[in-house]
Amino acid sequence: MAEPSGPVIALVPAAGQGVRLGEGVPKAFVDLGGTAMLVRAVDGLLQSGAVDRVVVIVPEDLVESTRTLLPVEVTVVAGGSERTDSVRAGLAVADDAQYVLVHDAARALTPPSLIARVVAELRSGRTAVIPVLPVTDTIKTVDVLGAVTGTPQRSELRAVQTPQGFAAELLRRAYAEADGLATDDAGLVERLGEPVRSIVGEPTAFKITTPLDLSLARALVEEGTS
Ligand code: C5P
Repeated sequence: MAEPSGPVIALVPAAGQGVRLGEGVPKAFVDLGGTAMLVRAVDGLLQSGAVDRVVVIVPEDLVESTRTLLPVEVTVVAGGSERTDSVRAGLAVADDAQYVLVHDAARALTPPSLIARVVAELRSGRTAVIPVLPVTDTIKTVDVLGAVTGTPQRSELRAVQTPQGFAAELLRRAYAEADGLATDDAGLVERLGEPVRSIVGEPTAFKITTPLDLSLARALVEEGTS
């Protein structure tokens, strides 16, 4: 089992272009009530009291400008063309981690208490922990032509959030053996046949992806509820 008192390093992949948001700047740099999403996401990690170091991964041409936005103790490195490349770049500068959190910059309003709960599960001996929420829509699988191929039972489905937390050794092994891409990090751990524990997530940890998400996030910030 991992040494429960070792350092927790949070990786924040923020190197995506975020075209779905339609704001003309990479998603992580979109303004949310006067503060860039990325800065809010990093603040949440630092406020949790559960994270020892934060590593932010951004497009190469934004490394220098990002450093000026964040507290000096935050490490900023260049990402890659896929999310997995960006997480790899972060892992490469997190040698001393006992535990690694991977947290999307786009989940800018994640409550610090959720971050602390993920870390508490790791320190109690879990090696892979993800926050999840039940889905409210019925979910279908479809083929490339749009024909419906199945209806998974909704009660068994969960929408997955971040931060996802891992024993560092396990996440490194998952990335070393990863073939192909994954939309979340736990998916790579599952491919190793290792257990992943879900915990109850938070509605405000939603991923800000579309213009509608952004309107909701801005309304929450304005109300002062997030
Ligand atoms: O595209 P998606 O919304 O799933 O991206 C999730 C997170 O991964 C975002 O914070 C995005 O900036 C980041 N990402 C990255 N490097 C890429 C692609 C996405 O760091 N090449």
